[in-house]
Amino acid sequence: MPLRRTAPRAARRLLPACLAGALLACLLSCSGGGGTPTAGARGVGDRLFPGAGNGGYDVTHYGLDLSYDPGSGRLAGTAVITATATQDLSRFTLDLAGMTVTEVGVDGRTAGTGRSGTELTVRPARELRRGARFETTVAYTGVPRLLTDPDGSHEGWFRTDDGALALGEPVGSMAWFPGNDHPSDKAAFDVTVSVPSGLTAVSNGDLAGTRTAAGRTAFHWRSTAPMATYLATVGIGHFTVTRSRSPRGVPLYVAVDPRSDDPQTAAALRRLPDILDWESGHFGAYPFGSAGAVVDHLPAGTVGYALETQTRPVFPGDGEGPAVDVPTLVHELSHQWFGDSVTPSSWQDMWLNEGFATYATWMWQEQQDGVPLSRSAATAFADPAAWAFPPAKPPTAADVSAQPVYGRGALVLYELHQALGDAAFARLLRGWPAAHFHGNASTADFTAYCAGLTTRDLAPLFATWLYGKARPAHL
Ligand code: TRP
Ligand code: ZN
Repeated sequence: MPLRRTAPRAARRLLPACLAGALLACLLSCSGGGGTPTAGARGVGDRLFPGAGNGGYDVTHYGLDLSYDPGSGRLAGTAVITATATQDLSRFTLDLAGMTVTEVGVDGRTAGTGRSGTELTVRPARELRRGARFETTVAYTGVPRLLTDPDGSHEGWFRTDDGALALGEPVGSMAWFPGNDHPSDKAAFDVTVSVPSGLTAVSNGDLAGTRTAAGRTAFHWRSTAPMATYLATVGIGHFTVTRSRSPRGVPLYVAVDPRSDDPQTAAALRRLPDILDWESGHFGAYPFGSAGAVVDHLPAGTVGYALETQTRPVFPGDGEGPAVDVPTLVHELSHQWFGDSVTPSSWQDMWLNEGFATYATWMWQEQQDGVPLSRSAATAFADPAAWAFPPAKPPTAADVSAQPVYGRGALVLYELHQALGDAAFARLLRGWPAAHFHGNASTADFTAYCAGLTTRDLAPLFATWLYGKARPAHL
């Protein structure tokens, strides 16, 4: 269990070393150690979400130590962020929406801070050299916010009647921890959540341990595989937990709010192990050390979507329809390969997530339910909403989860299947996530990868299906 760090105490103890360090840094920079350190950019320059993420560093690990009080909705947290400077840095920013920051330290020394919008500026006592590994500690507290996206959907921190649920796509992780909130910067995570004993806190990865003391239980979740911030989740509440293994041996942890345990949900979840292994057969070995699901209960209209949170997708139930159905389970589990292991480099590459996940469901429906893939493709092709914009060019941030990203994204794969033939297309389904295992990739990386699978010129196919505005005459 990670210990809570107290930055000011360390800072006082290290003050003389800090002065010596500053002198040394000055000597180094005066003796040709590089140019004047500058501020890290306040965004990574994402075309659709310009404020998302930050420049000048690359996070390798988040250690989040959280304590939640369901009665008041208050979250108290300490984030220890290990990163490498990618430039000489005089200061840098973290993304954080709301919350009160009480202390910030860098490498044990108190740092200067500033807040503006969703940017938390950190000015380390000592400038950071390019290539330096540094540790930023942020202590914060408050009632986390629910954020509204340009498309009107909500993410961030949902308060539930028995706890809370954190969902981050696209920029909601900044509601509950400070970080580099852009998919291009993936990192390992250790998330420890302390809750009143009797409640469960579920998150991504493996349950590394629990500890109960003074009426509270801390759950320590560990993700050793890199994870994008938008894929981090926490579910707090009353859950029935089932632990098992898939036939191929993947450890499963499924947490279900008893109020969302309707018969259809239970039946769908019983198929989870087989779906996972069926997907492994098509997409390659499951990319993470554990899998599962979180099924929570929230009032109707609060979330409205399932999310492919890494290793443990979240399904909100509202008591009206079933919380989980098989096609949605197939969709979210397929994202573990397409989105979670190979993650888009930027938000406009979103079709690489949703196109593959939609196509995975078409494959499942053909093989399991006898619905021909050509029929699913024809339905998507006929949907006028799919033709609002090209899948690789969502015009605004409000369009990242619109129909062209899903249906037309899947049609790109349908067309590739026709062009490549069965064998090369099967190689694409396994080879693409393997080529960028636990990494990032862009649309350009994808088209280049496809080109390597065939002697055919795929440029016209991509011009029409990926970048073209007009609907072609036929599939
Ligand atoms: N990715 C989710 C899915 O499985 C849908 C979704 C939720 C989404 N929030 C989003 C997509 C924000 C894009 C942006 O389909
Ligand atoms: Zn999806």
